[in-house]
Amino acid sequence: MVDQQIFNKLLQDYKQRVDLALENWLPLETLNPVKLHQAMRYSVLGSGKRVRPVLVYATASTLGIPLNQVDGIAAAIEIIHAYSLIHDDLPAMDDDDLRRGRPTCHKQFDEATAILAGDALQALAFYILTHDSEMTPDASRRLAMIEKLALFSGSRGMAGGQAIDLASVGKDINIAELETMHIHKTGALIRTCIQMAALTSNTVSDAQFEALDCYAKKIGLSFQVQDDILDVISDTHTLGKPQGSDAGLDKPTFPAIIGLQAAREKALELHQQALDAIQCFGAEADILRLISHWFVQRSH
Ligand code: IPE
Ligand code: IPE
Ligand code: MG
Ligand code: MG
Ligand code: MG
Repeated sequence: MVDQQIFNKLLQDYKQRVDLALENWLPLETLNPVKLHQAMRYSVLGSGKRVRPVLVYATASTLGIPLNQVDGIAAAIEIIHAYSLIHDDLPAMDDDDLRRGRPTCHKQFDEATAILAGDALQALAFYILTHDSEMTPDASRRLAMIEKLALFSGSRGMAGGQAIDLASVGKDINIAELETMHIHKTGALIRTCIQMAALTSNTVSDAQFEALDCYAKKIGLSFQVQDDILDVISDTHTLGKPQGSDAGLDKPTFPAIIGLQAAREKALELHQQALDAIQCFGAEADILRLISHWFVQRSH
């Protein structure tokens, strides 16, 4: 049984673990082009929650996979996430000046460098998946992982969700359209974490894979519902990013469309559905259960 204290310690361990991997994979700042490498490191290293790596490690732990076999997956997905945040903050998108308590990449450097840092990080993520020596040596599995990451981060996944987000500004979209947007812009990468980790396992059954994917879909959505809620109820200092950014841009969000209370209920309902999805697992999936709870009660 994993209790809250053990969970907090695990989160710390997982964060440290991926931070080490990220540090190793990111090109040194002394390498040319120095400014680009500085911007890449600035945006990846630092105070992110490392939610996606945590999910990779928790899935591995649930399935009995040694964690060194998924370090590359955790690092690659976190790097894709960092790239998505750099671009998300650009003036052409959400035009935000603060991220993780510091100036956004384009404010610290400049817009062109921020665009290139995002581009280069995306490429680095795929480089890691082809070069990490600890990941499964099975080439067909690696290919399947690369395919997942490409699909879920591309126009049918995260980038597509971001396109829907931008096209929805100021529009009266319904709840189903809002869910579609969130499922893509945030849910897709969260699903990738769990699917890529599960692809490492020799023993995972189809039913277990399905159960984990169902869990991933629920928490992927609940994570963004809570992100929307925090934009309303939290403060800039706690968030490390500008509170009220969504309302300022007239973004469709869960609180904006169904109200704060209903948004909270939606998040809790998704949490319950996530727990139901992984009922077939025993105590070995407790970390996943606690992660789902963390997603809906977090304050930043
Ligand atoms: C923010 O993600 C963007 C969303 C998809 C909601 P996180 O809340 O995981 O941001 P960091 O990595 O902790 O900064
Ligand atoms: C961003 O959603 C999702 C991605 C970066 C793919 P948001 O725009 O809500 O994220 P924050 O609130 O700026 O972190
Ligand atoms: Mg955005
Ligand atoms: Mg944003
Ligand atoms: Mg947000």
